[in-house]
Amino acid sequence: MREFRQAGFSAAFPHLRADQYQLRTLEQTQVRKPHSPNPLIQACSLTRRYPNGVAALEEVSLEVAANEFVAITGPSGCGKSTLLHLLGGLDSPDSGELTVGGLPLHSAGDKELTHFRRHVVGIVFQFFHLLPTMTALENVMLPRLLHGEPPREVRPHAASMLELVGLADRAGHFPHQLSGGQMQRTAIARALVHSPALLLADEPTGNLDSASATQVLELLRKIASEGRTTLVVVTHSAEVAAMAPRRIRMQDGRVADEST
Ligand SMILES: Nc1ncnc2c1ncn2[C@@H]1O[C@H](COP(=O)(O)OP(=O)(O)OP(=O)(O)O)[C@@H](O)[C@H]1O
Ligand SMILES: [Mg+2]
Repeated sequence: MREFRQAGFSAAFPHLRADQYQLRTLEQTQVRKPHSPNPLIQACSLTRRYPNGVAALEEVSLEVAANEFVAITGPSGCGKSTLLHLLGGLDSPDSGELTVGGLPLHSAGDKELTHFRRHVVGIVFQFFHLLPTMTALENVMLPRLLHGEPPREVRPHAASMLELVGLADRAGHFPHQLSGGQMQRTAIARALVHSPALLLADEPTGNLDSASATQVLELLRKIASEGRTTLVVVTHSAEVAAMAPRRIRMQDGRVADEST
């Protein structure tokens, strides 16, 4: 485990601190999903101002039902990533209330937030954040290894996640031996490996050529169609947005409108 932390943990998980991870027994790490999370996300009047005075979010309120697929769109700088970071428990609002999967994130303590990040939410970033020194399979296994689960138990599940994203035959490849789309699909497999109730993706096709973007798009479509994961995808892509049954458009830190 120590090697994992030292082998560029922060490169792979820029939003998490390595020292938040402690070895845990398998029993302690059983995935716990909320019981009747309807809505799964409830945000009320969220405001986020950065220390430099930028008001990134102003009075944002929204609800997302369990297993819904929602796209968040809007011009650069309107607060999409800031909102996603709040939904993922990576950042806290300055005011307002945010409950995800039954947990009031705005008032949650470190322990609850760590549990939330480990078990409830999976996050996919625009730039993949795979560890370069690990194979695709090892990258997918990593979050659960960091939870303290034994490799022999994690490996088969991680392999099935790679299969889900169509990369069973690339399990032994290192990130530099994968295409951009394959790297992003590996990152999606990693985000799904702990069976999160909520999958958040920030511009998942933003850094891909159109062929790779199509592969990732198809994968998101597949995940959404299975209806077992709530999907919130931030995107500039009209194609990704059109795929979501519901679209929330942001403007200047506020929800401008919604369409279905
Ligand atoms: N850490 C930070 N410190 C200060 N200001 C920030 C920080 N992060 C973002 N901002 C500012 O907050 C506003 C919202 O940023 P955010 O990253 O949420 O926008 P975005 O909608 O995701 O944009 P893009 O589409 O370009 O990714 C922007 O004006 C940005 O400059
Ligand atoms: Mg952004």
